[in-house]
Amino acid sequence: MDVANYDLLATTLLLLDEQGRVVHANAAAQELFGLSCKQLTGVLGHVLFNADASLAAHIVSAVEGKFAVLREDLTISRRGALVPVSLTLVHLNQPPWAVLLEVRELEHHILLERNRHLSQELDVQRESLRNLAHEVKNPLGGIRGAAQLLETELEAEPLREYTRVIMAEADRLSGLVDRLIAPQGVTLKQARFNIHEICERVYTLARAEYASQIEIVRDYDASAPELMGDHERLLQALLNIMRNAAQALTESHSTLAPKLILRTRIGRQLVLATRPVKLGMVVSIIDNGPGVPAELHDKIFHPLVTGRANGTGLGLSLAQEFVQQHGGVIEFDSTAGHTEFRMILPLELP
Ligand SMILES: Nc1ncnc2c1ncn2[C@@H]1O[C@H](COP(=O)(O)OP(=O)(O)OP(=O)(O)O)[C@@H](O)[C@H]1O
Ligand SMILES: [Mg+2]
Repeated sequence: MDVANYDLLATTLLLLDEQGRVVHANAAAQELFGLSCKQLTGVLGHVLFNADASLAAHIVSAVEGKFAVLREDLTISRRGALVPVSLTLVHLNQPPWAVLLEVRELEHHILLERNRHLSQELDVQRESLRNLAHEVKNPLGGIRGAAQLLETELEAEPLREYTRVIMAEADRLSGLVDRLIAPQGVTLKQARFNIHEICERVYTLARAEYASQIEIVRDYDASAPELMGDHERLLQALLNIMRNAAQALTESHSTLAPKLILRTRIGRQLVLATRPVKLGMVVSIIDNGPGVPAELHDKIFHPLVTGRANGTGLGLSLAQEFVQQHGGVIEFDSTAGHTEFRMILPLELP
């Protein structure tokens, strides 16, 4: 097909050369990125997306024909806003074209479908984990009790070392089991409050723990109306998100000065866990740390998924559960140097 004909298509297409640079961007692509064909030409394809190094690697693989077609969900930045897109990479063998990128803006209903799916999937996982935890709890108590009895019977001190290991490990496991069972079936303690009360608590705690290592910035939307919700749970959810960001910042060896931003905004036309809403409260925690490891992107909210050596992987799963109990959702975007977790809560219409 003649390149000019691509301009007639509604689909966004970018043609890349062997180096992964844009050779041609059709009219729809210019529209989507808000840049002219001239501005887009010569730019490295992966730079146009908010992605980690894996995208550049995928483009190289596509150039080399290592796969025919690959799809990924990413975001692009357009006039300061993040736009979710689905990207398809296609290997082409028509010099100077080596790769074709097709970019689709994700519509609300697709996002909604994803959120719904995630929410159901998480429910099922939590349910089965809780069942398992209940099953483990009783025999665990038995094991611990038996080890304790045994210890009193044992005379040789070296042998008691073993019973102590059994008890200590049983206690550790029992702590985990308790955390898995904890939030079930408890109804929300609804109250009316301003979201900034929670933000201020999180800010104070973050400062107490991390002020010497991290610059912590508040950026509040003072016009935020009060909302209905469970103060404790929303606080816990936001704390878990903040802790992760602070841990990512303090445990990495980045050259950037560690910075954490706590931001509130009123959002319009939002997609939440199970429905779209006209008005919502968006609380963002933004850090300039190394970013969420690529292999965790799809499962970060699942229980027991962790990227940290001593993490349990329950923080985000619990936070997501608490926020979903409020009809909201937690979502995130992450690239090296910019990670943003957003807690989105519905606001009643005035
Ligand atoms: N801001 C962030 N930057 C980089 N990675 C993050 C960030 N937030 C979360 N992660 C990654 O997501 C993983 C899961 O987080 P989650 O809070 O669920 O568990 P955890 O922090 O590992 O353990 P826990 O919170 O139970 O102590 C983390 O281990 C980390 O790898
Ligand atoms: Mg955590």
